[in-house]
Amino acid sequence: MHVDRAGRQLVIQAPAKLNLFLEVLGRRADGYHELETLMCPVSLYDTLTFEPVDNDDSVGHARSPIDFACDWGPLRRTLGAESSDDSSRATPPEWPEPERNLVVRALDLLRDLRGVRATARVRLTKRIPVAAGLGGGSSDAAAALVAGNLGWRLGLTDEELSRCAAQLGSDIPFFLARRAAVCRGRGERVEPVALGAPGWFVIVRPASGLATAEVFRACRPCANGRDANQVLEALRAGGWERAGRELYNALEPAAESLNSEIARLREEFDQLDVLGHQMSGSGTSYFAVCRHARQARQIGARLRGRGLGHAFVVTGCR
Ligand code: C5P
Repeated sequence: MHVDRAGRQLVIQAPAKLNLFLEVLGRRADGYHELETLMCPVSLYDTLTFEPVDNDDSVGHARSPIDFACDWGPLRRTLGAESSDDSSRATPPEWPEPERNLVVRALDLLRDLRGVRATARVRLTKRIPVAAGLGGGSSDAAAALVAGNLGWRLGLTDEELSRCAAQLGSDIPFFLARRAAVCRGRGERVEPVALGAPGWFVIVRPASGLATAEVFRACRPCANGRDANQVLEALRAGGWERAGRELYNALEPAAESLNSEIARLREEFDQLDVLGHQMSGSGTSYFAVCRHARQARQIGARLRGRGLGHAFVVTGCR
């Protein structure tokens, strides 16, 4: 996450994430799943701008709502096709909603917590596909928490912000850490880790998406499953060349049973001379770990030509 100031306005670049490792260790009494996952933020960003607006007392005592608008840019074209897809049952029916709700809910949570009467003008430019396992909505919510805390000068500590984040969604505390991390619990217990070289990736988001809850419902937890150490040790010992062989995502079989595009992507990626490939998060995005930037750009161009979906060439965020 990068934060810039332009006068009273804050401009925040909210990154996507990739899951290099994800194990599902069990179902919990609260309906969530116990996880261990290694995530890294990557250079595909939504942009959130935040401008504080003082409450107009002449209109009475009611708090003004957050003035929020979302620009879906090129994603509107790409993702608009979802409703005509066979697997549309598995996609959120109104795909812009989760982002809108999470950003506004994050800011309202801060206002409730600190009794803030001011409002804000918030604009979100979406580039991260939704229902894709890339954490776009969670990253936007983390950006909103940082923006509200700075813009309204609330002075919340990192720990207080993390608590707010965990209240809003399992992945949101990760994005506050602003670096690669192993996340445990339902995802909210974040332990930052060093990955060394940033790595180059190609991500493909097929035409249809998947709802996270549905994928978790279909997965089979494994109580004595793997941990993230194997990928981390491989990274330390042999960089991405070794780590590419250790990628793991326990949600992939469940996602594949719900959406046929994932198996198709795996078959396509099997043809590539890359260091490794797998699905990110709960899907449907699929990514390759590439040897270097040039290979990533070549593969990105090749996959775009294959019409598999929206292809992005990204690197790990420092
Ligand atoms: O926490 P968040 O709202 O992002 O999670 C979305 C849904 O994904 C949850 O309602 C739950 O069904 C599922 N989930 C889960 N276990 C987790 C994280 C998410 O079952 N650790």
